[in-house]
Amino acid sequence: MTYRISLQPGGHEFDAAADQTVLEAALAAELLLPHGCRDGACGACKGQVIEGRVDHGSHSASALSAAEQAEGYALFCCAKPLSDLVVQARNVVRAGDIPIRKLPCRVHRLQRLADDVMLLDLKLPASEAFRFRAGQYIDILLADGRRRSFSIANAPHDGSHIELHVRRIDGGSFTAHVFERMKEKDILRFEGPLGSFWLREDSQRPIVLVAGGTGFAPIKSIIEHAIETGLQRPISLYWGARERAGLYLDELARSWEAALPSLRYIPVLSDAAQDLSWEGRRGLVHQAVMDDFAELSGHEVYACGAPAMIDAARTGLCTGRGLPEHAFFADAFTFSTPAG
Ligand SMILES: Cc1cc2nc3c(=O)[nH]c(=O)nc-3n(C[C@H](O)[C@H](O)[C@H](O)COP(=O)(O)OP(=O)(O)OC[C@H]3O[C@@H](n4cnc5c(N)ncnc54)[C@H](O)[C@@H]3O)c2cc1C
Ligand code: FES
Repeated sequence: MTYRISLQPGGHEFDAAADQTVLEAALAAELLLPHGCRDGACGACKGQVIEGRVDHGSHSASALSAAEQAEGYALFCCAKPLSDLVVQARNVVRAGDIPIRKLPCRVHRLQRLADDVMLLDLKLPASEAFRFRAGQYIDILLADGRRRSFSIANAPHDGSHIELHVRRIDGGSFTAHVFERMKEKDILRFEGPLGSFWLREDSQRPIVLVAGGTGFAPIKSIIEHAIETGLQRPISLYWGARERAGLYLDELARSWEAALPSLRYIPVLSDAAQDLSWEGRRGLVHQAVMDDFAELSGHEVYACGAPAMIDAARTGLCTGRGLPEHAFFADAFTFSTPAG
């Protein structure tokens, strides 16, 4: 059984099988609906069902509340059609010619960047060109069918390998494996590129980049891409961490000011009361942006990191500083839903 789905605005139409989510069907039709975790956890794919009925599937209540569901909202990464649909989504773009693929890769290098951050350098098969947009992520495919999402930290022009910055999670199974047992030459499988968090290059708006912790990874990809392409737009990069060690590539970030004259780098520490030698900014990273910009109606903001930081940034910058919702791009680092 297939259903016809019509997308507003724009009027694009595509078919979905009854067991396909709206997002899966849209991606298969090369229509990139906004999305992040694809797991019902981050809310990035939220849109409105204007006509028709869906099965909402299992999702986190913080990503879609019962009240929103009653108002007709749905998470398109979980919602499956029960009839033909008319749905509304923001920021829909044509996927272009970058396919989502499943590929093997080899662990080329493991490097501790901080006590709880590991750089994982993955080498791709020589015969396979892997293309992606600066800011996207991959899913590592685990043997039991589970997946773990990590943002790509290198730029697309450097596509013979994939650099990831993996933060160790208390009680986390895959990240513990990375820190304790993973070795060079181990073989992994992944799917990608995924996500709709990438630099919009058809815009001329000044850019504000907001990274929390390893949310720096996709921001690094975006900046290295900007350096490679000689991007002229003004860029303000805010990187927040609790302590100085959390700014695990601070030297590199500082060096970007010389490589890209339009870039300003502002590191921000939230928990450095004891660090009297720290002369930089203190407090929460989204608050530092709010302190520096009285209004952001002409800007684009790219924010990446913990879900609480993304929520605070979205509310503070869109509601408090006039940033249009369509100019706020984010990847929230949610955890995968536990199996079962
Ligand atoms: C789009 C995207 C991009 C991301 N990019 C990055 C990145 O670049 N760098 C990065 O460091 N992270 C990133 N993340 C986050 C990363 O995917 C997670 O930190 C990772 O999946 C954790 O995997 P794990 O197996 O170690 O943890 P899990 O085993 O999934 O555990 C996660 C948490 O859930 C708890 N938990 C596990 N099982 C259960 C259970 N049955 N019941 C209750 N609690 C449970 C654990 O104790 C732990 O606190 C990204 C996430 C997304 C969605
Ligand atoms: S909730 Fe659907 S992409 Fe995250």
